[in-house]
Amino acid sequence: GSGVVRRDRFSGGPARSFLSSLAADERIFEADLEVDRAHVVMLAERGIVEDGVAGDVLTALDAIEVDGHGSLPDGEDVHEAIETAVIQRVGEEGGRMHTARSRNDEVATCIRYRLREDVLDAVETTLALRESLCAVAAEHGETIMPGYTHLQPAQPTTVAHWALSYEGAVRRDTARLLEAYDRINESPLGAAAFAGTTFDVDRERTAELLGFDGLVENSMDAASSRDFLLETTQALSTHATTLSGLAEDLVVFANRGFVDLADDYSSTSSIMPQKKNPDTLELVRAVAGNAAGGVQGLTTTLKGLPRAYNRDLQRATTHAWETADAVTEASEVAAGAVATADWNGDALADEAGAGFSTATGVADLLAANGLPFRTAHEVVAVAAERGDEYADIAAAAEAVLEEPLESYVDREAVEDALEPAESVASRNSRGGPAPEEVATQLESARAARSAD
Ligand code: ARG
Repeated sequence: GSGVVRRDRFSGGPARSFLSSLAADERIFEADLEVDRAHVVMLAERGIVEDGVAGDVLTALDAIEVDGHGSLPDGEDVHEAIETAVIQRVGEEGGRMHTARSRNDEVATCIRYRLREDVLDAVETTLALRESLCAVAAEHGETIMPGYTHLQPAQPTTVAHWALSYEGAVRRDTARLLEAYDRINESPLGAAAFAGTTFDVDRERTAELLGFDGLVENSMDAASSRDFLLETTQALSTHATTLSGLAEDLVVFANRGFVDLADDYSSTSSIMPQKKNPDTLELVRAVAGNAAGGVQGLTTTLKGLPRAYNRDLQRATTHAWETADAVTEASEVAAGAVATADWNGDALADEAGAGFSTATGVADLLAANGLPFRTAHEVVAVAAERGDEYADIAAAAEAVLEEPLESYVDREAVEDALEPAESVASRNSRGGPAPEEVATQLESARAARSAD
């Protein structure tokens, strides 16, 4: 070096470790190196630094990458530590790397650069889960199961119809993540501290080198805004909420003997040898709590922050990382648990016929044969108090209508309507559970998945 003494502004004091984000910044170590490279290349192309200096900085960045985050000198954050490491290798000239930028645009760029990858990882897990759900649907188009409202048997449906109900929700989760991705994918670099720079930088060029689709144009917005973190965390949290419902269904179904989870996704009791517990799905269910916590933490951290940069933002970032990790892991586990579960067709069929769950179908049949639906509902409600046999319905009809049931509908039709499989087959309205309707739903699910 030239003998200039570097003033170490991060030299100590009781708040030293409190100030530092170096450990958490490991996540953006690679991103920062890429951002440094793009910035230095642009500075050289613009003649703001000499090619020789830029070359030395790039060489130093490669060496720093090989040594890894763990070998960085101490610093307030990864940006400062990498700059110090560059200067240690290149000498004072290495300090030109930070020309025409600030850590504020630098960190915002690093977060976006890394978050793109994390969102794509999350999207991958949603695609895997959708594939698992489609595979279940393909195999179980005619596997009758009880459908529930209020956790009470309501109307028979099929395992395929149930699986595709979650596929639709997860498909929207994918779409929300991809929309968030588009807004993450804009470059803040070149905004400097917030007020731009006197140097003739080329923001489009660094954006292009870093693979961004465009710029966050206003430099104050670019350096200060974190709504992209909030939007992403919210999309992840919505997905976690979808997952929690799916997990809860599977926990209940496992409890009732409807589904057998693979051993890989189950756990045993340390004391009760006969137990096989759906622990992975309970943990998937719980991740909705972590994700909601992430959204809450981020929202309250960002709320009321003034323009422009404030150090609070350092603690905002970690909420997003933690949420991304928890939700992506849960989504991946859910995909595996769904793909490997065994459905018990006999237990499902038995339960599908229980509790007069075909009652709605019988009422529909009477209504289709001339009774006002409300009157038909009353007949079946009276019958339901007694049982679910044809004889009960006939007796109820006599009591309510003072006319024999046969004057409306023949016995065979009523008995068919009482059969769960018949009941499912007859509900062939668009999007309904009838096998041919579910086949159509499966086709659109698969088409949408290939398009994503
Ligand atoms: N570690 C900081 C963060 O995550 C980097 C920016 C520091 N800038 C500043 N003006 N203190 O936000």
